[in-house]
Amino acid sequence: MPALRQAGVSDHGTLVGCVQRWWGDSRTPEQARELSLLLPRLFLQFFSGTSLVLEEGAEIRAFLIGFYAADNGTEAYIHFVGVDPELRGQGVARRLYTAFSRRAAEEGRTEVRAITSPTNAGSIAFHRAMGFSVESGDREIDGVSVHTDYDGPGQDRVCFRKGIAP
Ligand SMILES: CC(C)(COP(=O)(O)OP(=O)(O)OC[C@H]1O[C@@H](n2cnc3c(N)ncnc32)[C@H](O)[C@@H]1OP(=O)(O)O)[C@@H](O)C(=O)NCCC(=O)NCCS
Repeated sequence: MPALRQAGVSDHGTLVGCVQRWWGDSRTPEQARELSLLLPRLFLQFFSGTSLVLEEGAEIRAFLIGFYAADNGTEAYIHFVGVDPELRGQGVARRLYTAFSRRAAEEGRTEVRAITSPTNAGSIAFHRAMGFSVESGDREIDGVSVHTDYDGPGQDRVCFRKGIAP
C-alpha cells in the first residue's frame, strides 16, 4: 500500500511534473502548464508541514497541498489535490482529505474549505461524496451554486466547506 508522508520543498519539481503528466491527456500542453502555475514553490516552502504526498516506492502517486488560515484560528484550506489517473476511484483522495482533516482538527481547526471550477464535475462530485456542502453563490449551473468572477473576471468558482472535529 502506498505510504503517506509530509511534503517537502524538494518535492516541488516532481509535483509540477506530475501535474503536467497527469493532466496531459485532458488538456493541451499549454493548459497543463497553466495548471502547474497553481503550484508555485511557495506552497512547499511555507506549507509543507500541512501538505501530503502519497508515495509508492520512490514514485509520487498523489498529493494534497493544504494549510491553516493565518487570519483566524478556525479554518483549514485545501488548495490542490491530485491523484495519478491510474489510481483514481480507489479512495486515494479520500485518504488524503481524511488525513489532512484529522490533523487539522487535532490542531484546533473546526472547518475545511476548498474551491473548484464549475466545469470540474469530477471534483464537485468528489467534494459532495466527502460530505462538503456548497456555499450559496449568485447563480446556478447544472443545479450547483456558483460564485461569478470569484477569482477574477471569468474565473467562476464553486466553494465548499465542511465542519471537522477531533
Ligand atoms: C477529484 C480527484 C481528486 C478524486 O480522487 P480519487 O482518488 O479518484 O477519489 P476517491 O477514490 O478517494 O473518491 C472518494 C469519493 O468521491 C467520489 N468521486 C471521486 N471522483 C469522482 C468522480 N469523478 N465522479 C463522481 N464521484 C467521484 C467517489 O465515488 C468516492 O465516493 P464514495 O467514497 O462515497 O464511494 C481525482 O479525480 C483527481 O485528481 N482529479 C483531477 C484533479 C482535480 O480535479 N482536483 C480537484 C480540484 S483542485
